[in-house]
Amino acid sequence: MSKTVFVLNGPNLNMLGKREPGIYGGNTLQDIESDCRKAGDDYGLTIDFRQSNHEGVLVDWLHEASEKAVGVAINAGAYTHTSVALHDAIRAISVPVIEVHISNVHAREEFRHHSKIAPACKGVICGFGPTSYILALYALKSITD
Ligand code: DQA
Repeated sequence: MSKTVFVLNGPNLNMLGKREPGIYGGNTLQDIESDCRKAGDDYGLTIDFRQSNHEGVLVDWLHEASEKAVGVAINAGAYTHTSVALHDAIRAISVPVIEVHISNVHAREEFRHHSKIAPACKGVICGFGPTSYILALYALKSITD
């Protein structure tokens, strides 16, 4: 039976393709969604792919994931570095959550080196462009088998 995973995207990720292409590349979020769906077919995962610019909406979706999904891949964007609410939401649910970033946050500005959510996550994948999402799906498939 196919397992559902949530792929959650935070603020400004709807701007991919136009936003700082030197850092994030030319792929749109729709391109990444379609790559995730293809990987989902290969891995036996049903992908529920969402984006919001609003912190509380991401909190609600994490709670929803605990009822409907076997795991979550989240690119929380800038909320990664600021959000105690997302940290608490991840700790509040029992399904594994993987932190994802397109860019290598550790090779960028100092304020991106710290993640508020990483201690609550199962693991972190960053720096592989859109492939970071696919690696997170592979990890979710492997740890939920
Ligand atoms: C990002 C990295 C964050 O620091 C930044 O705020 C983003 C995107 C990434 O995918 O590389 O919005 O999460």
